[in-house]
Amino acid sequence: MLRTGAPSLSALCFALMSGSLLGSQAAWAGDTTQQVVNKAPNGLAQTPPMGWNSWNKFACNISEQTVRATADAMVSSGMKDAGYEYVVIDDCWHGQRDANGFITADPVKFPSGIKALADYIHSKGLKFGIYSDAGRQTCGGRPGSQGHEYQDALTYARWGVDYLKYDWCDTGDRNPKEAYAVMADALRSTGRDIVFSLCEWGNSEPWLWAKNTGNLWRTTGDITDKWSGKYNYSWGVTNIVDFNEPHWSYAGPGHWNDPDMLEVGNGGMTTAEYRSHFSLWVMMAAPLIAGNDIANMDEATRSILLNKEVIAVDQDKLGVQGRRVVKDGDKEVWVKPLAGGEWAVLLFNRGSTPTTITATSEQIGLPPAVTGFRGFVRDLWAHKKVGSYRDRISALVPSHDVAMFRIGR
Ligand code: GLA
Repeated sequence: MLRTGAPSLSALCFALMSGSLLGSQAAWAGDTTQQVVNKAPNGLAQTPPMGWNSWNKFACNISEQTVRATADAMVSSGMKDAGYEYVVIDDCWHGQRDANGFITADPVKFPSGIKALADYIHSKGLKFGIYSDAGRQTCGGRPGSQGHEYQDALTYARWGVDYLKYDWCDTGDRNPKEAYAVMADALRSTGRDIVFSLCEWGNSEPWLWAKNTGNLWRTTGDITDKWSGKYNYSWGVTNIVDFNEPHWSYAGPGHWNDPDMLEVGNGGMTTAEYRSHFSLWVMMAAPLIAGNDIANMDEATRSILLNKEVIAVDQDKLGVQGRRVVKDGDKEVWVKPLAGGEWAVLLFNRGSTPTTITATSEQIGLPPAVTGFRGFVRDLWAHKKVGSYRDRISALVPSHDVAMFRIGR
């Protein structure tokens, strides 16, 4: 059995002797002190952002009707109550720049203008996000923000934008650190709270430098609605997981790794695969940005996106990204420490047949001989308590599926 990156026993013993169970979690997450001290300068996104984005389902086929209908559905479906907050229009909302260089909305798709749309979304108690690009043109060929950063930030603030996703197409030889810093400064100079989402696909390792620039950064190329594989510039879910997981120590309150938006409900995967996709994003403290047609969700999609017990793991206040502690062929164990000395444990079966997966205390980070730890175990997909914790968690996990537990106090 190959163990990947588990904490050393001596580190755990030290932490346990020197304090509480929470102490062992701090040792487990090497970057915890910095996470507390170095909040992103704007103070936003203290938990991973949640919301919806138009791209994965609608691509360039968007309009103000679609966005309004989605905002309505965010409320009526219970998504808003479950924590989904930002309604983000991705690429292709743009018209031309006016005579003074100010960006306008596409007059056919958004005849009422972006300000009216933002007002509508705010009237529903939701927040509003928009998309631009650090280059001359967006990936969809619309006007980018290069050379117009302050003007665009001012426009967004006037419209009531609360979130900006900032892409990396057509940037030529721009330096990403500088290009993103210019827009970060421009947003800050408006005085409005705007979550800043960097989307340069992980090319320049933004986890190493973007913590004081933005609130989240893409770590990978685009996701596609498939379990695995590469499709032009896009990747299946399991590939994205493997790209994102190693960067766990760089995430924390105010600055998150972004493995891209959710595909749950878009039709290309099975319910088990969507459950795994969602659970893995949660374990990785990823932004939960739904990418499906919220106004027309089926029950299976709803039961995944609206699982509040699973969402609570993503949104946990400790703000530590979970990681894979065991990889044994297709069997994986993932662990995420939670506030108050609790833990989330995910048993993930990548294989094509059902298999029993077991996580021991040592793998989770709870050597019972040292801690005498006792707590309850709750199955977060079955929504029930499954007993008291002793020294391991075990489950028969169907193909491409997960079992997810909370070890509570
Ligand atoms: C890039 C981004 C995607 C999406 C498209 C829009 O590919 O990575 O998330 O925003 O551009 O054109």
